[in-house]
Amino acid sequence: MSDYIKISLLTPYELGKFNLSHRVVLAPLTRQRSYNNVPQPHAILYYSQRATEGGLLITEATGVSDTAQGYQDTPGIWTKEQVEAWKPIVDAVHAKGGIFFCQIWHVGRVSNSVFQPNGQTPISSTDKPLKPVHNSSYADAAEFTPPRRLRRDEISQIVQDFVLAARNAIEAGFDGVEIHGANGYLIEQFLKDQVNDRTDDYGGSLENRCRFALEIVEAVVNEVGADRVGIRLSPFTDFMEAVDSNPVALGLYMAKALNKFGICYLHMIEPRMKMVLDKCETPHSLQPMRNAFKGSFIASGGYGRENGIKAMSDNHADLISYGRLFLANPDLPKRFELNAPLNKYDRKTFYTSDPVIGYVDYPFLE
Ligand SMILES: Cc1cc2nc3c(=O)[nH]c(=O)nc-3n(C[C@H](O)[C@H](O)[C@H](O)COP(=O)(O)O)c2cc1C
Repeated sequence: MSDYIKISLLTPYELGKFNLSHRVVLAPLTRQRSYNNVPQPHAILYYSQRATEGGLLITEATGVSDTAQGYQDTPGIWTKEQVEAWKPIVDAVHAKGGIFFCQIWHVGRVSNSVFQPNGQTPISSTDKPLKPVHNSSYADAAEFTPPRRLRRDEISQIVQDFVLAARNAIEAGFDGVEIHGANGYLIEQFLKDQVNDRTDDYGGSLENRCRFALEIVEAVVNEVGADRVGIRLSPFTDFMEAVDSNPVALGLYMAKALNKFGICYLHMIEPRMKMVLDKCETPHSLQPMRNAFKGSFIASGGYGRENGIKAMSDNHADLISYGRLFLANPDLPKRFELNAPLNKYDRKTFYTSDPVIGYVDYPFLE
């Protein structure tokens, strides 16, 4: 091609010890096709379709324990059966030269007792209940059971659940783990001041609210090594009623506090993604956090080819993660390279349980 110019999104990048060949990352995407919380063989094809030589993929959110679940058929990584089920999926991604991180997750109060062991009450930083949701982030309307505030002496066990999940992820062959500290789930229920109403040393001040997240990071780093750990944060979003009165201060505090662990990356969701999927106007930017964090920085939310390229040239991020576009375009990096047209995503099949439709049937180029 005579007019071929290598776009910045497709240039190599050293993500710690991982040599990436391009900057187009698969964002974590819950697909609700892991029946009974066990990853299924159809995920082998789904992830390997999206794998490229030197491309980074992040799994869908994956439960760290039997209290971590809040949706039908999301995968876990706390049992031997789940670890074994992940192995062929990881192997398939590695066979194509991909780098694969497992996003480890606890939903906290975004749950219902039907998803909990013995129908018990979901746990959280608080006992404040969530209102039911009827929006496009769900296949169905969701009702939540009012949560139970974790006792102070129970918190270290949840930290250990993340440690076990990380150890299991490495055993399954993953290259690393991404701690899910975003989108209103348990870690954010501690981080954000409009949710966390604790009066012990895990609530109140910014330092106290960040304690749980940082204890998890430290413990997971000690278990698997800093070069295998990333974290995802979304200080600006208000998904699942998780709001902070000063998201800039929260984001900056975390970015600076994370520096001492030397982790592989910080993955942040753009302020424009107020409700995960819906964009809004905002005066805020991730730039202060990008500047404060010393390691690799992944930005996510509302990116396409052009603003992704611009984010690279503006030094806004090192890598961009793509959710809906990668979901619908298994060969997204190739399409960006060729500036080819994109398949449109179909929201109706985001969370349906079919092993093929809306999952592995999005066409490749040509
Ligand atoms: C179907 C779907 C499932 C998602 N599941 C997760 C998830 O498991 N973990 C997570 O951190 N974010 C999840 N997200 C948010 C995406 O990772 C991403 O931040 C969001 O889609 C915005 O990026 P985009 O504009 O590139 O789609 C999900 C989004 C979608 C559309």
